[in-house]
Amino acid sequence: MTKKKLIAGNWKMNGSLAANDALVRAIAKGLGDAACQVAVCVPAPYLAQVQMLRAGCALELGAQDVSQHAEGAYTGEVSAAMLREFGVRFAIVGHSERRQYHGESDALVADKAKAALACGITPIVCVGETLAEREAGRTEEVVKRQLAAVIHANGHCISEIVVAYEPVWAIGTGRTATPDQAQQVHAVLRAQLKAATPHADRVHILYGGSMNAANAASLLACADIDGGLVGGASLKAADFLQIIAAAR
Ligand code: G3P
Repeated sequence: MTKKKLIAGNWKMNGSLAANDALVRAIAKGLGDAACQVAVCVPAPYLAQVQMLRAGCALELGAQDVSQHAEGAYTGEVSAAMLREFGVRFAIVGHSERRQYHGESDALVADKAKAALACGITPIVCVGETLAEREAGRTEEVVKRQLAAVIHANGHCISEIVVAYEPVWAIGTGRTATPDQAQQVHAVLRAQLKAATPHADRVHILYGGSMNAANAASLLACADIDGGLVGGASLKAADFLQIIAAAR
């Protein structure tokens, strides 16, 4: 059975109650019988609002981060159990912006993924190289190191994660990886997963980094690209719906 592709929007630190209402209603209205799974990963203050707005439609709810701790004196953090109370299905972990601005290590990302899985939330584990690492020929080394930490920490549960390959140099830049560039790295990640689990083909490997309505179809046509993690284009209902339509 071929698995449905997954298109997840990452709103990052964007939105307002009024803008979210208009955006989610427009997405829900345009979803129809989408051939793929669709999720929006929203800022934590808006989880309750989007949980209410998505009721009755196939739009899934995601978070943009999750604590590695179950509960306790961790000011400002949000646990996986708390996210579950709002019907959260996915949690992005290890986004390059958190690795860069918050010093998130491979080990911390692995622990966050583990905490999400323990509460029935699917972690979307982000990996990706910087431009300097790519130009130094270190792309494969970097993404394999980042994924290896998650595989090591999560053992047989690794088949329950989602991986997102997000070349840092393509995020927010309009400079998208070519389908060949993306597929090459996705194939490396797939091979790494196959060495870790017999269910590697069940794992969604998403592409993220300036995916848009114009390039989505060519990226999603690649053998090991199972969907997209979409930033800027997910904030515009028409663009996001065009990407969803391309994911069949
Ligand atoms: O998590 C997805 C994000 O990093 C990609 O952003 O704006 O390049 O689609 P964007």
